[in-house]
Amino acid sequence: MSDTIDSTSGAIDSILVEKRVFDPVPEVVKGAAISGMQAYQALADEARSDPEGFWARMAHEQLVWHKPFTRVLDESDAPFYRWFDDGELNVSENCLDVHLRNGNADKTAIIFEADDGAIQRVSFRELHARVCRIANALKSLGYGKGDRAILYMPMSIEAIASMQACARLGIVHSVVFGGFSTKSLHQRIVDVQADLVITADEQMRGGRAIPLKAAVDMALTEDGTDHVRHVVVYRRSGGEVAWNAGRDVWLHEITDGQSDQCEPVPVGAEHPLFILYTSGSTGKPKGVQHSSGGYLLWAKLTSQWVFDARPDDVFWCTADVGWVTGHTYITYGTMAAGLTQIVFEGIPTYPDSGRFWDMIQRHKVSIFYTAPTAIRSLIKAASTDPKVHPSNYDLGSLRILGSVGEPINPEAWVWYHQNVGGGRCPVIDTWWQTETGGHILTPLPGATPLKPGSCTLPLPGISVDVVDETGASLPDGRGGFLVITRPWPAMIRTVWGDPDRYVNSYFPPEMKGAYLAGDSAQRDEDGYYWIMGRTDDVLSVSGHRLGGTEIESTLVAHERVAEAAIVGRPDAVTGEAVVAFVVLKGDLPDEAQAPAVADELRRWVASEVGPIAKPREIWFGNAMPKTRSGKIMRRLLRIVAEGQEITQDTSTLENPDVLKQFKGAY
Ligand code: WT7
Repeated sequence: MSDTIDSTSGAIDSILVEKRVFDPVPEVVKGAAISGMQAYQALADEARSDPEGFWARMAHEQLVWHKPFTRVLDESDAPFYRWFDDGELNVSENCLDVHLRNGNADKTAIIFEADDGAIQRVSFRELHARVCRIANALKSLGYGKGDRAILYMPMSIEAIASMQACARLGIVHSVVFGGFSTKSLHQRIVDVQADLVITADEQMRGGRAIPLKAAVDMALTEDGTDHVRHVVVYRRSGGEVAWNAGRDVWLHEITDGQSDQCEPVPVGAEHPLFILYTSGSTGKPKGVQHSSGGYLLWAKLTSQWVFDARPDDVFWCTADVGWVTGHTYITYGTMAAGLTQIVFEGIPTYPDSGRFWDMIQRHKVSIFYTAPTAIRSLIKAASTDPKVHPSNYDLGSLRILGSVGEPINPEAWVWYHQNVGGGRCPVIDTWWQTETGGHILTPLPGATPLKPGSCTLPLPGISVDVVDETGASLPDGRGGFLVITRPWPAMIRTVWGDPDRYVNSYFPPEMKGAYLAGDSAQRDEDGYYWIMGRTDDVLSVSGHRLGGTEIESTLVAHERVAEAAIVGRPDAVTGEAVVAFVVLKGDLPDEAQAPAVADELRRWVASEVGPIAKPREIWFGNAMPKTRSGKIMRRLLRIVAEGQEITQDTSTLENPDVLKQFKGAY
């Protein structure tokens, strides 16, 4: 556990530049899934007084079961909780077939917009047929329930259909974000013991083609990948790819002529639906394993409650399917809720920074869900180029705005509310994590009064608290560790292949059975939660969670590097920027050599972890500031990185002068 919760009391005041409370807008409240605070309270009370009855009712109402469950929650092996575990269902059936049966077959499921602006629309019927053809093709290659597939794909209908096809057959998928490198891809292929890889020739982003298949080819030349029998390749760009006959197959060839019907395979509610890797406090990413029944229930419920999904809505979540947001609020929850969704291949700044606003206008988007970093970069763009300011676009179709991934600073909140939402649309600041599977702390658009900068209140069925390092509950206004005190259906089930790590990371003994989120938070006098940041050395760069330790071990693995420390420096656009402190083997590089060495290390990190992990700045020194027990004092390095004077007591440092030697960054 970290010792870095500085006294955060009073911190809310500094966040609160905008002290106004925004009451829900009558048009949004009317007919909302949860309408008014009384309705919220009633649901929350029902869940509190009879949790099993509440969850059973929700699971019966929301999901189609092949075999009904008789047990709701099995706590006998806590913290390895099991939900609805004697029930059987199929996730893909609940996301697609249900809409074909209830008269929505011809409703648009996905409006796909490519990087270059080309548009493809598919109805639920057509998407269902595509999923069935892919599932039949995978079946004919010999894959089925319990096998593991790695997906390394661009944002596309094919990526979503491939995830759904895996779910249809009970194949456990693990999506690797296309921005990760060969090394990360290899690590995940080995860790899940993948039987199958589904990829594309290239991905198109901002007018550039970025190879994907080539990275897979490289990863598969490394050790531990013998399990992989096939690489299925979606032809996206038509770019040149190397071909390994016998192993590689084209997606269009194997699906050609397949039936557009494929019986969904029933699986136990606890069957793993997917594994998604996320950074933790060691060098090795954690494979967060999710379930089928409990996960889908919460994914669908939160889509309905938090986005107030209505039949005519056009929903756009800008996340990539490589992150949990793209799983829960593109492929699974929002699809189960029957929403028409925008799927976007490209980036917000291409062909210019008006792309999001232009797309909202053209597709008449009504619910828009994005990350604070995107908002901040578009604020910046609009301030230098008035042509890309949202005021140039008709955004009147919007009714709800969402935010996810990091705290949204009140300035960005207010800009988003005013300039994008025209003051009419609630800004729903959703706090959750890869591990929680779905929203945890969030306003409800038709109920919760909003305070810019706060993710407000826990959803019905969720119990949270702020505690000290002994697990004791803290009074309002005191900063501490955010914990979730009762199990919930979409919670992480284990760390794939490492149950001890699951227990140690999320259920350390001092938390007495509560789930430790890894964030610090405080609660105000209205019971509203304010997230203050991480308590471990996980960084958040453009909303992406990066492990400081992972980047450190990557740097240390470079032949020139003796020691490395990574800190996050606050950044106005990206939230945090990666700053590396490096001690080289041999002499300190002089001013003439340093830039080249820094570039070499940057390229190394990009190739080993991925371009998103590349240090923005590298500082060279002769030694690291360490405690007498040999721990690197990253807290002090953070101050150096911010260019500030160190005024704190450095007497615990073994070598106090060491801080002076870091001069200037490259
Ligand atoms: C971490 C989880 C949730 C899906 C995307 C990120 C931070 C996330 C918020 C928010 C403040 C937030 C937390 C959390 N975070 N949403 N609304 N306000 N912080 O998932 O990669 O698992 O990261 O992102 O620090 O622990 P993730």
